[in-house]
Amino acid sequence: MARVLLTGVRGKTGAPLAELLAARPGVEVLGGSSSPAEVRIDGVRPTAFSWDDPAGWPAAVDSVDAVYVVRPDRADAPELVRALLDVLPEPARVVLLSEQDADYPGPGGWAPRVERAIRESGRKWTVLRPSWFMQVFTDPRFYVDDIADTGELEFASGGAAIAWIDARDIAAVAERALLEPGHAGAVYEITGPEALSLPQTATLLSEAAGRPVVHREVGIDEAVAGSEGFARELDVLTFERVRDGSFAVVTDTVERVTGRPARSLAGFLREHAGMLRRNG
Ligand SMILES: NC(=O)c1ccc[n+]([C@@H]2O[C@H](COP(=O)([O-])OP(=O)(O)OC[C@H]3O[C@@H](n4cnc5c(N)ncnc54)[C@H](OP(=O)(O)O)[C@@H]3O)[C@@H](O)[C@H]2O)c1
Repeated sequence: MARVLLTGVRGKTGAPLAELLAARPGVEVLGGSSSPAEVRIDGVRPTAFSWDDPAGWPAAVDSVDAVYVVRPDRADAPELVRALLDVLPEPARVVLLSEQDADYPGPGGWAPRVERAIRESGRKWTVLRPSWFMQVFTDPRFYVDDIADTGELEFASGGAAIAWIDARDIAAVAERALLEPGHAGAVYEITGPEALSLPQTATLLSEAAGRPVVHREVGIDEAVAGSEGFARELDVLTFERVRDGSFAVVTDTVERVTGRPARSLAGFLREHAGMLRRNG
């Protein structure tokens, strides 16, 4: 029996990953969440895990064979991740969810420092570096309401493209890295099958929504309005990296690791058209 802890089990990659793992015989899935009472996934054991409660980590990682670490986007993430690895059982392998092209220095060299915490741990590790998730078009915290209500996709792209990735494909790569041999020491840049400009993305959204959706280019200040402090710094940097083409590079990682091609944005939007059509 392999015991696997997922941090962020209720998140965009954690939830589909939990389902994949729970469907495999011989895998015990611990669904880590700061609100474990909210974890309701068949075959998954709700497990208290909060970055704010290091005292609870030893119980969460007890006897685990592998851990999926969703990078917490906060200033102290490098220290937190390093401290978590210190309490892992010796042979446990670690898979980190980072982001595409994460060599950018950022505030205080933040993103590379989070990855270094894993790489220098002496563990068997794998780093996942995905592009922007397609799920930003269905997650109520991002664009779905604006698209459904106004038909506008406000985005600071600077004319660059994004190789949107389905979080389910990230989960499929993570599943292999957590359980199968051959992934130790790998840094996987994970993208969808094509890089799409924002106007091209809006065209696909129009087809799914059944009415026109237009891209409205906004400045970075407008795109990050409402976020503050470290989160704002990170958001500004993310849009600067969009503009610089960091998320436009297409890789074949999903197919190489899972044996089947990455899902397309058009297919994803067809599947979720109902959410985009609710006012249409
Ligand atoms: N979204 C994208 O397009 C994208 C693209 C590339 C990389 N990434 C990176 O991927 C990572 C995850 O982003 P995401 O968009 O997937 O986020 P997400 O779906 O919102 O998931 C974040 C998870 O963090 C958990 N969480 C919140 N507070 C916590 C705490 N105090 N302790 C432990 N867990 C806590 C949440 O679960 P509970 O509330 O249940 O604890 C949630 O499952 C980030 O590092 C992000 O930069 C995201």
